[in-house]
Amino acid sequence: MARPDPRYACQECGHVALAWSGRCAGCGEWNTLVESRPAKGGGQRAGGARAAAGAAKPVALRDVEAPANPRLRTGIGELDRVLGGGLVPGSLVLLGGSPGIGKSTLTGMALANLAAAGAETLYVSGEESTAQVRLRAERLGDAALSVPALAETSLERVLGTLEAEAPAVCVIDSIQTLHCSEMSGAPGSVGQVRESATALAEVAKRRDIALILVGHVTKEGSLAGPRVLEHLVDCVLQFEGERERTYRTLRALKNRFGATSEVGVFEMRSGGLTEVADPSARFVEEATRAAGSVVLPAMEGSRPVLVEVQALVAPSELENPRRVANGIDRNRLSLVLAVLSRHARLPLAGADVFVNVAGGVRIDEPGADLAVAMAVASAQRSEPLLSAEGKPLACFGELGLTGELRYVGHPDRRVAEAVKFGLGPVIGPGGGERIEGLARHSELRAALRAAMPPSRADQADRDPDLRKAA
Ligand code: TYD
Ligand code: MG
Repeated sequence: MARPDPRYACQECGHVALAWSGRCAGCGEWNTLVESRPAKGGGQRAGGARAAAGAAKPVALRDVEAPANPRLRTGIGELDRVLGGGLVPGSLVLLGGSPGIGKSTLTGMALANLAAAGAETLYVSGEESTAQVRLRAERLGDAALSVPALAETSLERVLGTLEAEAPAVCVIDSIQTLHCSEMSGAPGSVGQVRESATALAEVAKRRDIALILVGHVTKEGSLAGPRVLEHLVDCVLQFEGERERTYRTLRALKNRFGATSEVGVFEMRSGGLTEVADPSARFVEEATRAAGSVVLPAMEGSRPVLVEVQALVAPSELENPRRVANGIDRNRLSLVLAVLSRHARLPLAGADVFVNVAGGVRIDEPGADLAVAMAVASAQRSEPLLSAEGKPLACFGELGLTGELRYVGHPDRRVAEAVKFGLGPVIGPGGGERIEGLARHSELRAALRAAMPPSRADQADRDPDLRKAA
């Protein structure tokens, strides 16, 4: 019988084409088509053959044997917490992050701790030679030097080594460098990455190896190519931060064995990454207390963290003034600026506006709106926002398009965290239960007025009623 014609399936959208092309006609992604040969026989007969294979017997879940999974603690508290209590044997973790952020350092440190605790480990490097890996390990300390390393890019060889060594924990740095000789396509292409990860997952499950796959992220910031990988692995971790700055955050985007809301904070030092167990203390201590600076009690998962939001407003020479956002979403900044101009009459049209979350931290929640607005207003008026004791102002809340201040989650924990560091009263949205230390406002204008009582002249300038009276 003739061999069936090959089909090409897009790994991104599932579109099937009869001929290979560089770009998927379905979704427009590049290099996503992978050959998939249909089984001999075709639809009908295959269906009959499948039915003849017999039925499997389902089992009530209560009768399923669930092995108690003792977790492997990496000894890095923040990493263990984000993982949900440590690595699960036989599980796959994908660790994504941009180059230079510290993925190799983090995984190297985790392996060092595990090795020191007596676990069998293996570090597979496809990017660096073993000599380069050793140089890093020297910076991380003695334990890191006892981790067995392998510089290898051939998938088959890596699989063979895993079978032979069966370590308890293995790091593949990175999944994009592995190459499967039976498949066409360069290392890092979707087909190669998927094939490698699938084969590795199979060995990991069978031999009970906890596998950490390091992956690069694209320019857009998502995990490169292997979106397919996100379904295959048990846990997706994202390592973020700015390369030039020292703070790094680690968050779980997916976790089959724990919450996805946990965030770990690290600092890159000369001896590797150190955990920042109490980031609030660090950020408040470093807050500048100058005009344009406020403190935001942000929620990082289940934990409140105080971060400093800074703004600079300067006259612009450009026709389209600059709006630069670091650590917050650019669109969110545009929205806040529009609300500030429209509802607080802040003259921003001819000004460049820069907003920065200090320390290279990224804040991804609507609760940051009010802090951004306050920082910009304070910068625009060159007026520092300090409490009577000279402490920086803390505020949070989401801004609505009509200038209203909206409720955001966990106001109690945010306020408690701010009060713990002597900040307060905290300015925030109304609604919900009574909270000690929270000054509630339901509109941006009212919140601004509370933070920066306008001088009489200013007020007359803005308020038509007062102007009449003056
Ligand atoms: P690395 O872990 O190699 O990043 P990635 O694997 O994500 O590409 O480390 C990145 C940076 O960290 C590198 O520029 C050097 C710096 N670094 C330190 O500052 N201190 C250290 O102890 C180590 C090992 C690295
Ligand atoms: Mg690396």
